[in-house]
Amino acid sequence: MKLYLGSDHGGFELKAQVREFLQQKFPDVEIEDVGCDSSDSCDYPQFGKKVAEKVVSTPGSRGIIACGSGIGISIAANRVSGARAVLANSLELTQLGRQHNDANILAIGGRTKFYDPWEEIVTTFLTEETDMAERHARRREQLDA
Ligand code: RB5
Repeated sequence: MKLYLGSDHGGFELKAQVREFLQQKFPDVEIEDVGCDSSDSCDYPQFGKKVAEKVVSTPGSRGIIACGSGIGISIAANRVSGARAVLANSLELTQLGRQHNDANILAIGGRTKFYDPWEEIVTTFLTEETDMAERHARRREQLDA
């Protein structure tokens, strides 16, 4: 699987930790970090958009994005048609995002509280299957229509 990472300065440190964790736990996942490249102040819309465009144009890929709260960068990603970014700070939201919404992007906050360890959240994002029940598929189709 190809995985795109992106963040602003508020998510920069968390993104680096996520990258290191994934490289060890999922060596088969090919990671591409689209920036930012330092903790210098920068603008989250650029990086949310960049990751979302890459994910949408690369079949089967996923993205993980981070800003201070995860909010701004998830809004930016979801403005790209075909992106289904979920902001999740718990396993429950991550599981539901994958099962019901077929989330292709996970948004997390570098300066906010996690209700479950982020290691478990990113693992679940990569491993949880999509619920193919007709009602969920129908609703997902309406997102892109
Ligand atoms: C940057 O200060 C902060 O606003 C940003 O990281 C993010 O939390 C926005 O939603």
